[in-house]
Amino acid sequence: MMGLRLHLCFLALFSTLSISAHGLGPLCLPEEHVALFIFGDSLFDAGNNNYINTITDYQANYEPYGENFFKYSTGRFFDGRIIPDFIAEFANLPFITPYLHPGYHRYTDGVNFASAGAGALAETHQGTVIDLKSQLNNFKNLESLLSKELGDAEAKKLLFRAVYIISVGSNDYAVPFTRNSSIFQSYTPEEYVDMVISNLTFVIEEIYKKGGRKFGFPNLSPLGCLPLARALIPGNTGACKQELTALAILHNKALSEVLQKL
Ligand SMILES: *[C@@H]1O[C@H](CO)[C@@H](O)[C@H](O)[C@H]1NC(C)=O
Ligand SMILES: *[C@@H]1O[C@H](CO)[C@@H](O)[C@H](O)[C@H]1NC(C)=O
Repeated sequence: MMGLRLHLCFLALFSTLSISAHGLGPLCLPEEHVALFIFGDSLFDAGNNNYINTITDYQANYEPYGENFFKYSTGRFFDGRIIPDFIAEFANLPFITPYLHPGYHRYTDGVNFASAGAGALAETHQGTVIDLKSQLNNFKNLESLLSKELGDAEAKKLLFRAVYIISVGSNDYAVPFTRNSSIFQSYTPEEYVDMVISNLTFVIEEIYKKGGRKFGFPNLSPLGCLPLARALIPGNTGACKQELTALAILHNKALSEVLQKL
């Protein structure tokens, strides 16, 4: 995951914060309290998929996941912390808990909505993941809970000051290569990328309407070089799947342009 570069203009902001809300009641959040809301796929999922009806491939609640940091498998697709955990640590927040975790009510620190295997398109691993639009619906439910807990004005303030990070796209682009998909008979690569980006844009705009102002997005990595993609090339040569990396490059360029416009 070292290759991921974040468009994180808000990191500078975090570094000047000293968040001291721990132990305070939710009704007296200090002015500088900033929540972290997390959306997307396995790069960001902290365990939502532990609580949905899915297949083992999309869950990470068994060994050796987690062995190097948590010492047990939390549902993160890593041996240790995920990127949002490091961001949370940097912001003096606790690790942000999955939305679906039954014991979680500390919404004022933020919530993790991400789901391994998810894409911006509803069709991506449909029925086995929480797609981005459903994650948005969960966020809207959370907004109601926050309003009840804090009152409308405080809830608005919290959503306005919060940071929103979204990691999505890798699964949308990988799926057409890992299945016998006819998607590229219906769409050119550019059209397919446009469709992914417009669905992501929709979600960004909805979060904006709810008050969101600070967003961060990781670039997609060279997806064709993932072991999963290399294994698709006959002959076991270890070569990267260039068409897949090409989509990631197109996506990164299109996302950067769309974000400038937004
Ligand atoms: C694609 O279809 C062929 C023939 O129907 C089958 O042999 C192959 O396993 C399929 N590949 C995948 C990745 O599903
Ligand atoms: C979102 O993706 C779907 C396919 O999942 C597509 O039909 C639709 O046009 C896209 N929506 C937008 C706003 O582009």
